[in-house]
Amino acid sequence: MKAFKRAESNGFMIPDLTLDCAYFENTKCKILDGKKLSNNFVQQSQTLINGRKIPCLAVILIGNDPASKVYVNNKIKIFKEAGFLSKSYILNEDEYSEQKIINLIESLNNDENINGILVQLPLPKKFNSTNILNSILPSKDVDGFLAHNMGSLATGEFNSAVACTPFGVMVLLHAYGIQLSGKNAVVIGRSNIVGKPMGLLLLSDDATVTFAHSKTKNLKEICQSAEIIIAAAGQPEMITSDYVSNSAIVVDVGIHRKIDGKLCGDVHPSVKEKASALTPVPGGVGPMTIAMLLLNTALSAWDLSNKK
Ligand code: GUN
Repeated sequence: MKAFKRAESNGFMIPDLTLDCAYFENTKCKILDGKKLSNNFVQQSQTLINGRKIPCLAVILIGNDPASKVYVNNKIKIFKEAGFLSKSYILNEDEYSEQKIINLIESLNNDENINGILVQLPLPKKFNSTNILNSILPSKDVDGFLAHNMGSLATGEFNSAVACTPFGVMVLLHAYGIQLSGKNAVVIGRSNIVGKPMGLLLLSDDATVTFAHSKTKNLKEICQSAEIIIAAAGQPEMITSDYVSNSAIVVDVGIHRKIDGKLCGDVHPSVKEKASALTPVPGGVGPMTIAMLLLNTALSAWDLSNKK
């Protein structure tokens, strides 16, 4: 996988999980186990850290979004497990202006003990996310959200951070031996966080990519012709089995809480009856996002070609 080369030259590797694979109960559908793969990256980080600078991530959380609090706590927990450092800035939105947040980011840009800066999204409505994100130094943008880093992905240079969720999906597909070259892949969703970088990554490994979104006509037919479906629409259980062809590979990027309190994704459970492989929710894409954040922070600290 082209996007993984920079990680590889700094000692990371993608384990082969093809022989060590479980199936959803009573189906022929493989579980693409993101939790297991994420644990492997935590172990690799613990090993690679020996003799190297201990990477440190600054995490900024503004406001009271309950899901964001859970995500940020999970990120901090995994960093600790890997032996990495993190510094969290939990900010009250009423006490912070946009300029005050930008001032904080600038002080973190100038702090040589900080290797990565993450601003958890979405931000409260009163802030302009673009202004805030653009104040992060590109070499510390471990989310890969800045134009500089998205551009490196679009041109195929891959010399800086790649957005964590789509990067994690690529690593997961690779670990399970899923070939992309020449395959028809549909990405449902066109966000800067997932959809756009996801499509570019699939394209860089020679898939034939269709971007679908809320204005797409005939979504069902488009999905039926796909060999790989990446569901990042943000709609609970929207992709039902009639969207999916036999033996398709389905990646569920969604995570939602249902009224009964249980978690679900963008993909309906009935898809297991048809797909040849599917990511579970929870335990699929979510843990891989954090694993790639760990990896991007490590590369920001260790990759000499990254230093400007
Ligand atoms: N909100 C949802 N996903 C992400 C992510 O990968 N990074 C950040 N910073 N915010 C998010």
